[in-house]
Amino acid sequence: MVNKPTRPTDPLIGNDSWNIQLDSNGRLKHFLTIEGLGSEILTNILDTAESFANVNQQRVKKVPLLRGKTIVNLFFEASTRTRTTFELAAKRLSADILNINISTSATSKGESLLDTLQNLQAMLCDMFIVRHCDSGAAHFIAGNVAPHISVINAGDGRHAHPTQAMLDMFTIRRNKGRDFGRLRVAIVGDLLHSRVARSQIHALNILNTGDVRVIAPKTLIPTDIEDMGVTVFNDLEAGIKDADVIIMLRLQKERMQGAFLPSEHEYYSQYGLTEESLRAARDDVIVMHPGPINRGVEIESRVADGEHSVILDQVTYGISVRMAIMSMVLGREPEHNETEAN
Ligand code: NCD
Repeated sequence: MVNKPTRPTDPLIGNDSWNIQLDSNGRLKHFLTIEGLGSEILTNILDTAESFANVNQQRVKKVPLLRGKTIVNLFFEASTRTRTTFELAAKRLSADILNINISTSATSKGESLLDTLQNLQAMLCDMFIVRHCDSGAAHFIAGNVAPHISVINAGDGRHAHPTQAMLDMFTIRRNKGRDFGRLRVAIVGDLLHSRVARSQIHALNILNTGDVRVIAPKTLIPTDIEDMGVTVFNDLEAGIKDADVIIMLRLQKERMQGAFLPSEHEYYSQYGLTEESLRAARDDVIVMHPGPINRGVEIESRVADGEHSVILDQVTYGISVRMAIMSMVLGREPEHNETEAN
């Protein structure tokens, strides 16, 4: 049996239910947060995604691993990339997938979340993929579903977005190799509200990244972020100096109450990644962004579309990484011959 790591209560979701994602054998039952996972699980996800990347290059982009399984995309918040790549991933694994449109579902008639879940359970589903504006929502759902159902967190409030972090690690590994120890990674932007950044920092730490930096105005940096082992910079060029990887973040205006910034224009002049500021990084730096990007707010178009950008590769890799995570939580990891060319 694999020992489960222990850690104190999660400050954002206020309980220690983070560890409900592992079964008694230390295998993934749900995928809710990167926190508390070991490097073997993360590396296993990345290696499994690598075999699915081959499937995604084949003429018939499909394997029968999840045939007969029913998966529900339950998105209570807007999404383009995440929802559609989960749907494609499910289809390429031969599962049946339903997309529940919350704005037209009975939730808008006052049905509680638990009643909605019980009705979906009664339809004999195997997995819920959940995005919700409340931190802790995916943990709550995982703690309240029938034992045979797995839950994947597709983003909860400003808490976690673990599948995004894993596709980002996959993108870094594909471009920079397996040794994260020699990498300098700079994360720039709205760290305070970003669930993506929190999950990325946990993943980078677990994979032993040499130097992780965060760069933002003081108002957009959580006060306790140094406890996560990162170095804080308030100056863009100092922070991205000699970086191998730069990850840009969107300003999460929907999560801001009150004035965090003087103006978008001023933010761009200090923290926008332009061709000029990018010169401070290494010549072979890669520029990443989880999307949606706001051109002229956090990133210049010439950088977003330029030679260092891997932003659209992240989207493509998201399919393979989500295929890996979905097959692992349902206990159907591919044998070698299951991902061979058709
Ligand atoms: C992110 C999200 O929803 O957290 N986007 C994504 O999933 N690709 C980042 C964002 O909204 O800025």
